Amino acid sequence: MSRQRVCAALQAAEGEYRSGEELSRDIGISRAAVWKAVEALRRQGYDIEARTGKGYRLLQSPDLLRQDTLAHYLTGQRENWQVLESVDSTNSACRRLALEGAPDGTVVVADCQTAGRGRRGRSFQSPAGKGLFFSILWRPDCAPEKLLPLTALSAVAACRAIRRVTGAEVQIKWPNDLVLSGRKLAGILTEMALEGESGHVSHVVVGIGINVHQRPEDFGGEVADIATSLDLALGKNVCRAQLAAALLEEMDLLRREVLFAPEKWLADYRSACLSIGRTVQLIRGESREQVQALAVDEQYGLVVRHRDGTEETVRSGEVSVRGLYGYTE
Ligand code: BTN
Repeated sequence: MSRQRVCAALQAAEGEYRSGEELSRDIGISRAAVWKAVEALRRQGYDIEARTGKGYRLLQSPDLLRQDTLAHYLTGQRENWQVLESVDSTNSACRRLALEGAPDGTVVVADCQTAGRGRRGRSFQSPAGKGLFFSILWRPDCAPEKLLPLTALSAVAACRAIRRVTGAEVQIKWPNDLVLSGRKLAGILTEMALEGESGHVSHVVVGIGINVHQRPEDFGGEVADIATSLDLALGKNVCRAQLAAALLEEMDLLRREVLFAPEKWLADYRSACLSIGRTVQLIRGESREQVQALAVDEQYGLVVRHRDGTEETVRSGEVSVRGLYGYTE
């Protein structure tokens, strides 16, 4: 394919110019075909400069998220993972694989989701080439209560992966939004299926979506004023394949430890949780109440103090943190 050959020739030139004439001669295509190939590569995200009298030079290649790029960053042997160019939702893909009998630990990563899902029936914006959309299937033989900390701890695993790759200290807004520079960086959606007879967990899928390359104009609708990406917050280009490999490894570690040693993760959760010690707004249905967030208990509930001095542990739901995501009241 001439596009791939033009791309290879420009990559081999290592940032130097190659004239249209040279490219056309070496590859054996017309100069018009070279131009068409350059245009196609630009649409794929390649930054190619064209200069009269000099020709073309490759300034930057796109951050491709593919099977081979991810494999390159995995530190050990790991089977049962796949990278898709596009899928409705990596959580749905994992669920379908689970129903077909896929093994414990199966991972699906995608460059783009056409129907990415968020919590509370919301959608999750998942444009091609911008984010990391990751889901892992787990088949633990346990009662569902044992997995209560799973989503919170997956947030810790994601923080660790991001720290490992970028050095950034990401925080957690209780229960499991990842926050960087005061804005939402990533979200987590856990979905569980139970066995009818025993009530045991038949499978669970943890889905993590991390914003990586988005520019401000890429965030639309209700997230426009609250979201950020790693590139925006850190001012550098983060490699999605490297991040995916780190996330896969951290999630494998979590799978091994969550049932047997969840306390090993509690200290990390507490120190990353930015809600503790702040005024937060408890959102329950239509009601809004301002409370003080005091601590996170052993089951990852948020201990809050009401205005009348009584204390309560909130186990699910949503809280807004004052000063964050535009909540200032
Ligand atoms: C939220 O913040 O509301 C949770 C967002 C979870 C998004 C991830 S992206 C990978 C996986 N697939 C989905 O459809 N959703 C999760």
